[in-house]
Amino acid sequence: MEQRPELLLLRDYPEAMMRALEADYIVHRYFAAENKEIMIAATAERVRGIVTGSQIATPRSLIERFPKLEIIACFGVGVDPIDVGYAHERGIVVTNTPDVLVADVADMGVTLLLAASRQIVKGDRFVREGRWLGGIMNFTHRVNGKRVGIVGCGRIGGTVARRLEAFDMKIAYHGPSNKLHPRYRYYPDLVAMARDVDFLVLTCPGGPATRHIVNERVLNALGADGILVNIARGSVVDEAALVAALREGRIRGAGLDVYADEPRAPTALLDLDNVVLSPHQSSATHETRAAMGECTLANLRAHFSGQPVPNPV
Ligand code: 8YV
Repeated sequence: MEQRPELLLLRDYPEAMMRALEADYIVHRYFAAENKEIMIAATAERVRGIVTGSQIATPRSLIERFPKLEIIACFGVGVDPIDVGYAHERGIVVTNTPDVLVADVADMGVTLLLAASRQIVKGDRFVREGRWLGGIMNFTHRVNGKRVGIVGCGRIGGTVARRLEAFDMKIAYHGPSNKLHPRYRYYPDLVAMARDVDFLVLTCPGGPATRHIVNERVLNALGADGILVNIARGSVVDEAALVAALREGRIRGAGLDVYADEPRAPTALLDLDNVVLSPHQSSATHETRAAMGECTLANLRAHFSGQPVPNPV
């Protein structure tokens, strides 16, 4: 009987996924290794797969340590932390879990947009701290009927757009190409779109092509009545410029699920009540994480049974 393929796990995974991995593979818990170099030395000649995640660094310096590596399976859709170019040069298959998390991530984008504009977190604190007894809270700002610009026109951005149409919002989008959408206005220039909208929602991939595309100029164009929502990657925003714009009131507010240096959010944001902070939770529901696990297992199973993988990157 052929030996079970050996996998290197770069993080822990939902329980059901871990059980399935242990049943079908010989797994090495690299994330828990006391001495990672010893684990690499002991397994490098046998490891055929790496299981990683969208927030887990998977650089060339690690990939190249495994000469028998055939597949890198990412638990998540974003592959920016993985050296995909080098993996492909080596003929290593890279997979991710794109479709199963789209709805939840889009839901988080809408949630943060509403929470930031209607100051839900501030209101919660206002009640809990007994301040309502002293009078009503400030008015907030309407969402329905306003203008939203979506950065990134992929599955997540498109799902956010469809959800916001239900709020009668006017939809615009910016990205590398005009998808010729009949109901949404395309902006080739991000500053121009930021100037013309009330909300800017970031849904684009992370990586060098989108690093700091939201900078001080874009934030100033979004302006004092504008709200930024980031469910993409912290790297997409010049975070120092965002902190300054929020503290100086040059934008109205923000709803953030991602940050430049996770799990550390900028301390300068922690005392502001015009920003809603979420700890990278967009795909973190029981249902979606279970589906992502099944998708990752299906990618691995297909590869090791000689079939095309369902979700190649
Ligand atoms: C991951 C993410 O889903 O999928 C992505 O790109 O940003 C994350 O939400 C999560 O970290 C699981 O790897």
